[in-house]
Amino acid sequence: MKHFLKLLDYSGKEIIDMLNLADQLKYEQKHGIEHKLLAGKTLGMIFQKASTRTRVSFEVGMYQLGGYPLFLSANDMQIGRGEPVEDTARVLSRFIDGIMIRTFEQAEVETLAKYGSIPVINGLTDFCHPCQVMADLMTIREYKGTLEGLKLCFVGDGNNMANSLIVGGLKTGMKVTIACPEGYEPPEEILEFAKQYGDKFGMYRSPKEAAQNADVVYTDVWASMGQEQEAKKRAEAFKGFCVDSDLMSVTNKDCMVLHCLPAHRGEEITAEVLEAHANEIFDEAENRLHAQKAVLVTMMKD
Ligand code: CP
Ligand code: NVA
Repeated sequence: MKHFLKLLDYSGKEIIDMLNLADQLKYEQKHGIEHKLLAGKTLGMIFQKASTRTRVSFEVGMYQLGGYPLFLSANDMQIGRGEPVEDTARVLSRFIDGIMIRTFEQAEVETLAKYGSIPVINGLTDFCHPCQVMADLMTIREYKGTLEGLKLCFVGDGNNMANSLIVGGLKTGMKVTIACPEGYEPPEEILEFAKQYGDKFGMYRSPKEAAQNADVVYTDVWASMGQEQEAKKRAEAFKGFCVDSDLMSVTNKDCMVLHCLPAHRGEEITAEVLEAHANEIFDEAENRLHAQKAVLVTMMKD
């Protein structure tokens, strides 16, 4: 049984294999070549949090693969009224062929996988966002031709995006730096993982130091879903962590800017930088579709 719970569970080669499949599926879709690799399969998509890209990419992706996506809003399910995830896992396993879940705690996703008997895909938790990073790596390869040796700099909160980018970037041969204020570092588990990579990983307080000679600058919101009440305090703590043209002046020539979206212009990124890099950022959003299809096929195809 294959699950896609976090990139820590996958080797660099396995990640690259999925990226190669994503490239192939994108090519086929663009050329009108059908690929109904999941014909007759049903995917349940449980959402405890809002979503535009994840929901639409998985829903359209399943349709294009010949399968059927089932949108399950957690608030309308018994899980939203306290039915244990252990029971939900065993019940859904009797009806459908795979689960994609977006929720708060990583432990909930791991429990779903443990008790169910069908593949579980993590569509974002507070800990990580592996599906997004598959699309990010795919986009970087499209623009740069390779991942090996490139420098990826994440500016902002040591959150789910930072965690998955550190793991995905390092495993696929990139150098990764992060600039975050004190108290907003990635969790110990991620920093421990990154230690194995020696000077290929660096954590900084100064965005400019972290972004020196970067090939890709990445940012994300300062207050993630579920942290709305901390937004004011966070806006204060993250002053000076905005991706603006001054920060971009220290990067390599042709440095990409990526953002998982949704973006808050004037907070973590200026409108000027976002619009100057709109091609990359919206290719990245589109690539959610192709990357998610590769994950679905890898996890769910017989
Ligand atoms: N980037 C991302 O996961 O977007 P959604 O929250 O819209 O799914
Ligand atoms: N860090 C953000 C990512 C959204 C795609 C959040 O968790 O809200």
